[in-house]
Amino acid sequence: MKVLYLNGPNLNMLGVREPSIYGTLSLADIEQKVKKKASQSGIEVEFRQSNHEGVLVDWIQQALGQFDAIVLNAGAYTHTSVAIRDAIKGTGIPTVEIHLSNVFSREDFRHKSYLSPVCIGVICGFGAESYSLALDAIANFKKK
Ligand code: DQA
Repeated sequence: MKVLYLNGPNLNMLGVREPSIYGTLSLADIEQKVKKKASQSGIEVEFRQSNHEGVLVDWIQQALGQFDAIVLNAGAYTHTSVAIRDAIKGTGIPTVEIHLSNVFSREDFRHKSYLSPVCIGVICGFGAESYSLALDAIANFKKK
């Protein structure tokens, strides 16, 4: 099984950016942890990050036929992007929405996700662990 991890704007700043909210691990640290766990289950994982909405849309479209599932932390685009939502819906690739922080305990504008309705599920609030939990979620979903 191949899983594509997509990361949106400002997630390249993890470790530096608001560590009290997002923790001290960098995206590269998280990637390493997820890849270690994935290899134990024979799952292939690829990580990408972009600050650009259209690039994320391109990657979702290009994942069709290449990846079995997507794990998506769209960052702030979660709360604004109809284009990313349409790309997920359009490809039909099972996608798990994730967030490091518990978006529901934060500002009101973070309570709305354009993506949740077209994702198979949402994991948020567990810090870097949200990334690893998504791998379990995908593995279980695929077993069904
Ligand atoms: C985030 C939550 C978003 O509201 C925010 O814009 C981010 C990160 C998270 O992982 O907690 O950039 O997706």
